[in-house]
Amino acid sequence: MAFSPDFLQELAERNPIEEVVGEYVALTKRSGQNLFGLCPFHSEKTPSFSVSPSKQIYHCFGCGKGGSVINFIMEIERLSFPEAVEFLARRAGMAVPEQGHDPNRGRRERLLELNREAARWFYSQLSAPEGAAAVEYMRRRQISPRMARSFGLGFAPDGWSGLTDAMKQKGYTERELAEAGLAKNGRRGGVYDAFRNRLMFPVIDVRGNVVAFSGRILGDGEPKYLNSPDTPVFSKSHNLFGLNLAKKSKAGYILLVEGNIDVVSLHQAGFDSAVASLGTSLTGEQARLLSRFTKRVVICYDADAAGRKAAQRAIPMLEKLELAVRVVTVPEGKDPDEFIKARGPEAFRALIEDSENGVEFRLQRAAEGFDLGSDDGKVGYLREAAALIATLPDSVTREVYALRVAEQCSVAAEAVRDAVRQARRRRLNGERRRAERENTRPLRQSQPQGVAIRFENPASAAAEAGAIRLLAQSPELFRNGAGPNPEHFSSPELAHIYEAMLDFTRSGHECSAAALSSRLTPDEVGLYTSLIQEPVSAANGPRALADYIHKIEAENCPDDTSDLRAVAAKLKETKGYGG
Ligand code: UTP
Ligand code: MN
Repeated sequence: MAFSPDFLQELAERNPIEEVVGEYVALTKRSGQNLFGLCPFHSEKTPSFSVSPSKQIYHCFGCGKGGSVINFIMEIERLSFPEAVEFLARRAGMAVPEQGHDPNRGRRERLLELNREAARWFYSQLSAPEGAAAVEYMRRRQISPRMARSFGLGFAPDGWSGLTDAMKQKGYTERELAEAGLAKNGRRGGVYDAFRNRLMFPVIDVRGNVVAFSGRILGDGEPKYLNSPDTPVFSKSHNLFGLNLAKKSKAGYILLVEGNIDVVSLHQAGFDSAVASLGTSLTGEQARLLSRFTKRVVICYDADAAGRKAAQRAIPMLEKLELAVRVVTVPEGKDPDEFIKARGPEAFRALIEDSENGVEFRLQRAAEGFDLGSDDGKVGYLREAAALIATLPDSVTREVYALRVAEQCSVAAEAVRDAVRQARRRRLNGERRRAERENTRPLRQSQPQGVAIRFENPASAAAEAGAIRLLAQSPELFRNGAGPNPEHFSSPELAHIYEAMLDFTRSGHECSAAALSSRLTPDEVGLYTSLIQEPVSAANGPRALADYIHKIEAENCPDDTSDLRAVAAKLKETKGYGG
């Protein structure tokens, strides 16, 4: 079951962590050796996610997540350890040793392959006689064959077993078909095709895997779209339709629209950064996914009430991630597809250029909720507008909008400024109180962050952690059995980490994060990386080691080691000990 440390080390070397992480996170060099980016595991505005090419680890100073390249893949691709190993082996073109296989291995892989095969088969149906209706439908919707190809559109014919039969012939089981959401279990046993007589839109993730399908009825009928359910390889709230293509766009912004057809139509018209959120309103995960690929989002939801409400919800979610948001309102109640068909791409480009920023849009929407002709309406609007303006970080921007609102309601500018100042004070006070609460928890600070590990004895744990850092940096100090006894550690997790490291070190292996990640739980690896990314002074290693031993023994075996402690204390006082 275990992979050898040498294999794991080679795996890590052939998958340089900065390269692998760089496929998911935009990394930049800030200072020193480390690369920094926005953490893909929690929501943040300033980069606190670091990657150390030399130590081959990542560590987030914000949420505390960290580990080797293998842990990164486990976390971001949601894979088990052996699956992540295999994923990376395949990436680097390495063979995976047999012993590493686990019974569950490749289940996800099988589903992804099945989805890919299904997409191929749907595509092939476009050129079969049964597909004529779909080809005609696309022609009517003006979807070019080139777009059909780049999105991998296809056709699910109107039978009960077309896809199922074809996939079974390729060796996939009925169970796998059902698990992928491509088939449904019949009442009298067996399965039948889930998608019938529909134009098929494969959902492709940013790594190029076909993870799901969305099928549109040809013409009118209910439901208009049928979507894959959530499966082991697909979560609707974590994916965006078209992002696999949009992420390569040079537009400098991502265009967020509602419909799959809108996405295809926009790409065809040259707006190759359009994505859609698969029929849900934008989720936090989708927002974060977007923020990995762009700094600017242009929302172009339908002009109806539902579309506007969805935009209002999406704006703060995106702004929280420091994305600049603009909102396009398509006139005449059209969606982007209809507008482009009616007025052409240049007219749409003009809409983007005239788009409102997030504040204008929200003020406008707030104003619509009140009757500004009445005093009550004015007061209500002013209150809401002030709260909104108060959230803007820049004082000049606040002033501009305060003036605008004052004009709009014909009241004195000073009145609006006052209301904004008050709203701001309330916000800041709330934030300050929250920050204070955070800071007045001294014990929490000495606890590991981002992992489900708590130290019972933080003072002893600090020494145990120190020994681990020292071992990582100067393994030679630990030769010949020197160092604290892991049995005396207060923290079982730190003891586990320390023992694994000692084993590697003493058996002559390099103590790499990748090799360790096979012996440790993900939480332990996270703790390990957070420890070793802190710089340690190289001087005075032996002295530090003596201190740590002393502290650990003192904390955990007060009786039987009192002599030892006295000796250690003496040693420390002796000049020349450890320089
Ligand atoms: P729209 O009705 O705007 O679809 O729904 P559309 O893509 O513009 O299609 P046309 O132009 O009418 O042909 C927007 C999105 O909502 C989801 C789909 O993802 C669709 O693209 N949706 C819609 C569903 O999931 N189920 C439905 O029944 C309808
Ligand atoms: Mn439409």
